Amino acid sequence: MRFRSITAAVGLSSVAAAALLPTQQVKERALEYVVQPKVFIISMFDPEAEVWWGIPEFDLLALNITVPGFSPLFPDAHCTANGDICQLVTGESEINAAVTISSLVQSPRFDLKSTYFMVAGIAGVNPEVATICAVTFARYAVQVALQYEIDPREISANYSTGYIPQGSVVPDEYPQSIYGTEVFEVNQDLQKLAASFARNATLNDSSEAVSYRALYATSDLYAAGTKAPSVIECDVATSDVYYSGKILGEVFGNFTTLVTNGTGVYCTTAQEDNATLEALLRAAAVKAVDFSRIIVMRTASDMDRPWPGQSATANLFYSNQGAFEPAIQNIYLAGVKVVEGILEGWNATFAGGVKPSNYIGDIFGTLGGTPDFGPYAYNNNPVKRDLSRRSVKGKRDVPL
Ligand SMILES: *[C@@H]1O[C@H](CO)[C@@H](O)[C@H](O)[C@H]1NC(C)=O
Ligand SMILES: *[C@@H]1O[C@H](CO)[C@@H](O)[C@H](O)[C@H]1NC(C)=O
Ligand SMILES: *[C@@H]1O[C@H](CO)[C@@H](O)[C@H](O)[C@H]1NC(C)=O
Ligand SMILES: *[C@@H]1O[C@H](CO)[C@@H](O)[C@H](O)[C@H]1NC(C)=O
Ligand SMILES: *[C@@H]1O[C@H](CO)[C@@H](O)[C@H](O)[C@H]1NC(C)=O
Ligand SMILES: *[C@@H]1O[C@H](CO)[C@@H](O)[C@H](O)[C@H]1NC(C)=O
Ligand SMILES: *[C@@H]1O[C@H](CO)[C@@H](O)[C@H](O)[C@H]1NC(C)=O
Ligand SMILES: *[C@@H]1O[C@H](CO)[C@@H](O)[C@H](O)[C@H]1NC(C)=O
Repeated sequence: MRFRSITAAVGLSSVAAAALLPTQQVKERALEYVVQPKVFIISMFDPEAEVWWGIPEFDLLALNITVPGFSPLFPDAHCTANGDICQLVTGESEINAAVTISSLVQSPRFDLKSTYFMVAGIAGVNPEVATICAVTFARYAVQVALQYEIDPREISANYSTGYIPQGSVVPDEYPQSIYGTEVFEVNQDLQKLAASFARNATLNDSSEAVSYRALYATSDLYAAGTKAPSVIECDVATSDVYYSGKILGEVFGNFTTLVTNGTGVYCTTAQEDNATLEALLRAAAVKAVDFSRIIVMRTASDMDRPWPGQSATANLFYSNQGAFEPAIQNIYLAGVKVVEGILEGWNATFAGGVKPSNYIGDIFGTLGGTPDFGPYAYNNNPVKRDLSRRSVKGKRDVPL
């Protein structure tokens, strides 16, 4: 098939010239048409990606496009033959996600102006809000570890945690130094539509996961953690550090509340989403993508904290939660409903876009509008947007 496209693109003009080109270059030229995906699936590592391959609904391996700047482990974007549905694999953690998505949005091979992006990965889950194997759709992504950190053994006894927002001196003080990636808010109307499509899926589960959930029943706080998996609208935390345990879960839940002005619900935890969103936001600022077309779906592969009486290390290292495989399955089972929902409703709804009724974008208001989550006055200490911008810039202005 590749040979056929090479002939089509190069053969007629100059066979001789083609013979002088390195094979790779010829292949690249042959594929130099612009793909305009309707849906772009964002996977982070192999199992999340592979669950979409060999499915009956569509063939993502029909067209591979090598994109300069992608991870050396995952150099290609994968698309259906007609280019309607594509997928990439970022590689794990914030740096990989940011660089891969930045490379995609700058690739001349894609026109992404009307593309719906769906982050589709697994995550840890807060049993106060949801449970293992559940499928979640976020409105906020919060970069929870973008804070000062002092080891709890060294901090004064009156601190409940060693994490303190940057520029602040106590854990519950709104950050005084804003980097801009702390909070992203996506289209809540689209989030609800995507969740409604996903609710049509029959989710996978396992007997081990059923047993593990039951262990959380001794605390009323974890009632949500004991329920059968379902589709839930709740928010995602991003941190390169793979944290675990009740205390850090609560610390980052508190931070999510703080930076979303009480409207975010800390529910899942992963290592990429803020970075992906920052790259998409910068592309949206120059209209290369539409920030109102982003869906963040995370399926729950493990509990972020132990059951009452269990140690944090036992939960993280030694437990058989039985949720990894079902969570991977549920990316496809729920996600394919979202992809189909978008394609089937393309002409009626999605081509024109789903108008957000909430603020969308970052904490700076980069895409216009005023964030409904802050910066806001903390006690008598107003954090002004322009002041925050200056404080970020000020760092660069420090004389060397
Ligand atoms: C695309 O890449 C995958 C592996 O990543 C491979 O299995 C598949 O055959 C490739 N498709 C084409 C059309 O070359
Ligand atoms: C991630 O993004 C969310 C909002 O989208 C933000 O609140 C949070 O602070 C960000 N986290 C990091 C570690 O950048
Ligand atoms: C702990 O006490 C010290 C000394 O009184 C005070 O400066 C600090 O703000 C307190 N920390 C918290 C988290 O309340
Ligand atoms: C979370 O916030 C609550 C309410 O402010 C506070 O009581 C609790 O100590 C905080 N938890 C941690 C672990 O910091
Ligand atoms: C769910 O599936 C049914 C039957 O296929 C279909 O009629 C309905 O439109 C679907 N609902 C959503 C929200 O996709
Ligand atoms: C989950 O998926 C596995 C593997 O496909 C299958 O064997 C199992 O029956 C499924 N369980 C449920 C509850 O759907
Ligand atoms: C959407 O519109 C296009 C162009 O008008 C048409 O070719 C296509 O069949 C329509 N798709 C559906 C699902 O109605
Ligand atoms: C933060 O929440 C308070 C109380 O609900 C509200 O009065 C205020 O307007 C909110 N701030 C922003 C920036 O939306």
